[in-house]
Amino acid sequence: MRPMDNPIQFVSWLRSVAPYIHAFRGKTFVVAFPGELVVAGALPVLAHDLSLLHALGIRVVLVHGSRPQVEEQLALRKVESRFHNGLRITDEVALECAKEAAGELRLDIEAAFSQGLPNTPMANAAIRVISGNFVIARPVGIIDGIDHELTGLSRKIAHETIHPILNAGGLVLLSPLGFSPTGEVFNLAMEDVAVAAATALRADKLIFITEIPIITDAAGAEIREVSTHQAGAVLESRTLNADAAYYFEAATRAALSGVPRAHIVPYAVDGSVLLEVFTHDGVGTMISSENLESLREATIEDVGSILHLIEPLEADGTLVKRGRELIEREVDYFSVIEHDGVIFGCAALYPFPAEKMAEMACLTVSPDSQAQGDGERLLKHLEMRARTAGFRKLFVLTTRAAHWFLKRGFVMASIDDLPKDRQNMYNWQRKSMVLIKKL
Ligand SMILES: CC(C)(COP(=O)(O)OP(=O)(O)OC[C@H]1O[C@@H](n2cnc3c(N)ncnc32)[C@H](O)[C@@H]1OP(=O)(O)O)[C@@H](O)C(=O)NCCC(=O)NCCS
Repeated sequence: MRPMDNPIQFVSWLRSVAPYIHAFRGKTFVVAFPGELVVAGALPVLAHDLSLLHALGIRVVLVHGSRPQVEEQLALRKVESRFHNGLRITDEVALECAKEAAGELRLDIEAAFSQGLPNTPMANAAIRVISGNFVIARPVGIIDGIDHELTGLSRKIAHETIHPILNAGGLVLLSPLGFSPTGEVFNLAMEDVAVAAATALRADKLIFITEIPIITDAAGAEIREVSTHQAGAVLESRTLNADAAYYFEAATRAALSGVPRAHIVPYAVDGSVLLEVFTHDGVGTMISSENLESLREATIEDVGSILHLIEPLEADGTLVKRGRELIEREVDYFSVIEHDGVIFGCAALYPFPAEKMAEMACLTVSPDSQAQGDGERLLKHLEMRARTAGFRKLFVLTTRAAHWFLKRGFVMASIDDLPKDRQNMYNWQRKSMVLIKKL
């Protein structure tokens, strides 16, 4: 479809992408793909998609694999591949094959990025692909009594050289080969180079564009978005097939090493990298290193969870009894802390505008998550909310947590210091202590 066939749709689509363009400009993406992608003839299209990312100001580092190309070279020489636990054992002949495969792939990739015919996605692109001895490697060594010979592991990535190249608008290409200070060449796994590069460059994303379809769990449900914690559980369950597990493990490793998001997308889906980056739901699996924990304002959907959290404390008298109806009515006063969809902390801010004061009430952190600073985070957040709303003082009424508040800048006060309306509501039976903090 041409844009002018449906201009309204085109414009609304382009606008919907704007937030992502703003968010990703200047960010570093490491994009890794297996040799199978080249065999499948998907390289020209990948070059189109990546040149678009590049044009939008994203700093792109490419990592290519070469397994089928190495196999082809070995077959030509009538040499059998040797593997141990999925890792190739590289002898002299296999290394020659790996070097030849990498050399050829590098030229093909450079050619793909040199496209620029008018009326194609790469017209005026003029992207320069830079590669070099950016990966320092060491030998894998002997595992289970088996010498892996010239198979290596990435030891260091020359990030201090790569950053200026990216800053100057170059696209950096890394092959699955590394060099040692002894002058040797080692054959590496593409996934290993990708994770090492993403980590060393402090990339914002690592994207594997793979030959495997979208990853599913034991029940057949698609795994779309997981935290590293959940990813660990998936790996432990050993339900993924070998290829999926390999990518999943590498992506998880990257996320655990601080890469905020690692994606696995299938190249069989046309434009998968663009869909993954520029649409909310994406088309692949995303492993997120971020603590999925968030502090946010409550909505009506949270009422059940808030009740669940505070009911035991209402029952033992720590908190005043409120009940569902009241919470439903006052839910806008609440902030909550959520982790992976579960609410485990809340607090409410009740305004007394006439006196420029606000009450913090109902501060609760679920018993199994206490003493990790979340109570304090909620307090800080409510202080910020109160300040933003123009309040000068924050007060609490508490029977059992006075010391917690004293330690956090509150001072003992009396009922007379409370706003008039609040004085009238004071429950003389509870005999709560009044503590006030100047904001
Ligand atoms: C008070 C409360 C919200 C603190 O939440 P939290 O996430 O554990 O708080 P933090 O991690 O920021 O602070 C933990 C510290 O407070 C201390 N603390 C916890 N409850 C306390 C109390 N009632 N009095 C004094 N200190 C307390 C802990 O011992 C810990 O001290 P440490 O850091 O020296 O080890 C939580 O304990 C709670 O939900 N309590 C029950 C409800 C309640 O009393 N709310 C206040 C009603 S107004």
